[in-house]
Parts: sequence; C-alpha cells; structure tokens
Amino acid sequence: MTSEPIRLARPDVGEAELAALAEVVASGQLTMGPQVEAFEAALTDAVGTAHAVALSSGTAALHLAILALGIGRGDEVIVPAYTFPATANAVELSGARAVLVDVDPETFLVRPELVAEAVTPRTRAVLAVHLFGRPVDWEELQTAVPQEVALLEDAAGALGARYRGTPCGALGLLACLSFHPRKIVTTGEGGAITTDEAELAASARRLRHHGLAGDPIDIAVPGLNYRLPDLLCALGIPQLRRLESLLTARERVAGWYTERLEHLVGTPSASEGDRHGWQAYVIRLERRDEALAGLRADGIEAQIGTYAVNRLSAYRERGDFPGADEAFERALALPLATTTTEDEVDRVVRALTRYV
Ligand SMILES: Cc1ncc(COP(=O)(O)O)c(C=O)c1O
Repeated sequence: MTSEPIRLARPDVGEAELAALAEVVASGQLTMGPQVEAFEAALTDAVGTAHAVALSSGTAALHLAILALGIGRGDEVIVPAYTFPATANAVELSGARAVLVDVDPETFLVRPELVAEAVTPRTRAVLAVHLFGRPVDWEELQTAVPQEVALLEDAAGALGARYRGTPCGALGLLACLSFHPRKIVTTGEGGAITTDEAELAASARRLRHHGLAGDPIDIAVPGLNYRLPDLLCALGIPQLRRLESLLTARERVAGWYTERLEHLVGTPSASEGDRHGWQAYVIRLERRDEALAGLRADGIEAQIGTYAVNRLSAYRERGDFPGADEAFERALALPLATTTTEDEVDRVVRALTRYV
C-alpha cells in the first residue's frame, strides 16, 4: 500500500478567496483599484503600524526598503549569514554592501553581539530576519547598535509572530513581509512594507509605481513596477480576517511535532514571552541529508531550512560563518500547513526516527 504524499506546505485558501477573486473579475478592475487599499488597511490592523504598502513580492519589499532609505553605493547593511538570499541580494542590487554576520545555529537568528562588532562608520542599517517566524531579540539588537543605524525587519515569514507582545512588522523603522504560498498568509506572490513613518511609506508608494507621485506627469526619482494587483490583494483579505485562526492551527501542528520530537532532535521554539509565527517547522539533526532523502523517498516533502549566504558564489570570501554553516548542514523543514493532521505528523515522526 502506498501512502498519500505529504506536502511541505499548503495554502489555506478556499471559498472565501474564490468569491473575492470572482468579485474582482466581475468588477473589471484587476489592478490599481480599491482592493489594494482594503488589503493595506487589513495589514495595518494585523501588524499595528500606521502604514502598509502592498508590493509584488517580499523581495520587492526588501529592494524598496533599501531604496526608500536612500541606501546605495558606499553604504553597508548588516544581514544574517543564514537567511533566504533575497535579504542580501536586495542590499547588493542597490549598490551597497551586504555585510554578513553569523547566526546562532540553535535559534537560526543573527547574534546581536556579532552585529555590534560588524558596525562601521559606513553602516546604514541592520536587516534582521525573524527566520521561520521566530522573533529576533529586538531589545538586545537595539542595544547592540548605535542610534543612527536603522533597524529593519525582514519579517517575510513572521506575520502574526510577536516579540514580547509587539507584532513582528512593527518593531523596526520599517519591515518587509512576504505572501509567497509558503507563508502564513498568501496572495500567490506578494509582499508589503509596514512602517509608522509616513515619508517612508510615501517613498515606497512612489517607487512601486515607476516614481510617479501626486503629479502624474513627473518623476523625481526613478522607480519600478512592484505593484500588487487587485486580484491578488483580494485573495489576501479573507486570510487576514482569519489570521488568528491560521496562527492557532499552525501552533497546534508545531505542538504535535515538538511533543514527539523534543527528546530526539533539536526542536524550534520562541523565547519566553514571544509568539512564534510557525512559517516553517525546522528541526536540527546530525544526519540531515540522509533524513531528507529518506523522508522524500517515503513521499514526505521535507526541505532544507534555508541558505548559508556565505556559501553562494556571489558572497564567497566574506569571512568565516560557522553558525551559518552548521545551520545549513543540520536544518530540516518538516511539512507544516493549517490542514496538517496528527496522523500526518505521526507518519513524519516515524520516518524521521530512523535517522536520529
Ligand atoms: C527570510 C526571507 N526573506 C525574503 C524572502 C523573499 O520573499 P518573496 O519570495 O516573496 O520574494 C523570503 C521568501 O522565501 C524569505 O524567507
């Protein structure tokens, strides 16, 4: 008997999203219409910032964050060595240098004391990543850097996560979210910048629309087309309305995994008083490669955690990053969706026990 495959992720979309899409199709206004504003309003409610700017991807959000701050040639931005490469790519594409800083291989998060050591007179910002939905220790980070260095969040996978009660996305000068299908809320592709700063939000709005602002026939600063169409904004709105239940469902699945695995492998958690967003459930184990191959052979869609940026050709020879190397070699993402069942978790755990 062959078992059903277990998918790594599955977006939580259904009737409400179909109805929202149908409404936009019927309206004939597929982009630059009212759904964009409605989606942005729902985002400001969820994150608690004054502004949200919907964008075509998390990568676009990172790129515009750097551009909106006027960061470019000659500047440095500190990024974790273990992250999805878009974090570093966005910095380098602006002409600035992404300065890699090592991570703690247990939490997968950037180490604030190493951030402090990496600050130079050229440092304009730190782009901290709440990786897999685990909040960075924000106060520790704040004390690690001088005031003139901007603290930015790559909260791509951290919508709904909270640092000591404050939502991720509302901690930094600005934050970048992603709505890729492996994220907590998805629009297929999509992203956003959230901020309390009206000027930064206005700048991001201009940059996402070619640089066009109030005056429709002038461009003061060249921009791009990073807009998120109404069709996709409409898809996100019903999910934002039920965000709490999406988070609770993910928490439940993470709890099932932790109960069964915490004595066998390194299991993920958030710091005391924080709320994990559970964008991914990523364990640590010695025999990661064997486990990954074995699970896949059993029809279980596991995946590596993410990338050690220092191992990518574009970022070679930027120092030693033993924490990122260890995380890259040991991390294994297990299937996690709101619909993951306890039986599926049992099957994943049974398959895993052969490698611990
Ligand atoms: C930490 C992190 N930053 C940025 C991104 C980029 O987001 P997107 O895929 O929406 O461009 C991702 C996506 O996987 C991510 O995990």
